[in-house]
Amino acid sequence: MSGVSFCVLLFLVGFTIVALLWWIRFPKAASIVMRGQHVIITGGSSGIGLALAQLVAAEGAAVISLIARDPEKLAAAQASVNAYSADVKDFASVKKAFEAACSESGNVTAVVLSHGVAVPGTFEDTSIETMEHMLDTNLKGNIHAIKAALPFIKSSKSAPASIAIFSSQAGQVGVYGLAAYSASKFALRGLAEVLQQELISRNIRLSLVYPPDTDTPGFAEEEKTKPELTKKISGSSKSMDAMEVARNALCGIKAGQFSVHCNFEGLMISTVGAGMSPQPSWPRAVLEVMTMGLFRIIAFFVVKGWYTTILLSQQEKAKK
Ligand SMILES: *[C@@H]1O[C@H](CO)[C@@H](O)[C@H](O)[C@H]1NC(C)=O
Repeated sequence: MSGVSFCVLLFLVGFTIVALLWWIRFPKAASIVMRGQHVIITGGSSGIGLALAQLVAAEGAAVISLIARDPEKLAAAQASVNAYSADVKDFASVKKAFEAACSESGNVTAVVLSHGVAVPGTFEDTSIETMEHMLDTNLKGNIHAIKAALPFIKSSKSAPASIAIFSSQAGQVGVYGLAAYSASKFALRGLAEVLQQELISRNIRLSLVYPPDTDTPGFAEEEKTKPELTKKISGSSKSMDAMEVARNALCGIKAGQFSVHCNFEGLMISTVGAGMSPQPSWPRAVLEVMTMGLFRIIAFFVVKGWYTTILLSQQEKAKK
């Protein structure tokens, strides 16, 4: 075979793969419009949630409702902001907050669930109460909020509507010292995959955001009790800026992305772990098919590195 016909063949095979993926991916990309809409953000009193509220205001949202335990009044010149106090762990209080927000500001087009709590420590050293606190906030808190939001998002003013859930990179990768946290965040993927199937005919898009360690007040608190190994493995020295995370998250949410990463490392983790989840973006579908094997090889090296670190540290501890 001549070089020219080989190139033509290669081009045809590539073109066929791209065309196939462009056609087969489902649900397809969508554009979530926030301008003039009511947007609800949980956990909006600090960190990523607060940064998101500022960006959503700049998008031209009509009203932003913040639901948090201690919601702080956000000064956003561009949008009117209301704050509701609720504990996501308590369904009755969350339900009341969503009802109040939607009766005041109309049915909601985008719900962004950015609340969450992490208390690092090994499984052995973490009390049942602390683990339940994480599961109740991170997993049940999302179930409560979505259950409360659904009646109002089903009849949103604008379609498609969006429910965005904040998982974590520790919801894609188990990280030493974060057992209950990782479990609660992994569970959100199951929740989001099922909800996307159940809500697709209502034109509601699910987004699952996977932020890395982010420079927030909550993160500073976690650092105090974080085991050394957790810091080493998660490389927590290079945490991301909250506004940068919020910007990436909002970009993915607006595009109707199912899996939303916040940096290149996040893109690699999402790609290698795509599994059976939806991929609305065709370039990312192509990327997944072309690079999954390569990223898996890189993952083997990373995992080997972690185990080496863990074993060395445990041997040192045993010697003492
Ligand atoms: C808002 O949602 C509620 C609950 O589903 C519904 O009863 C109401 O008709 C909706 N309002 C508008 C203006 O669509």
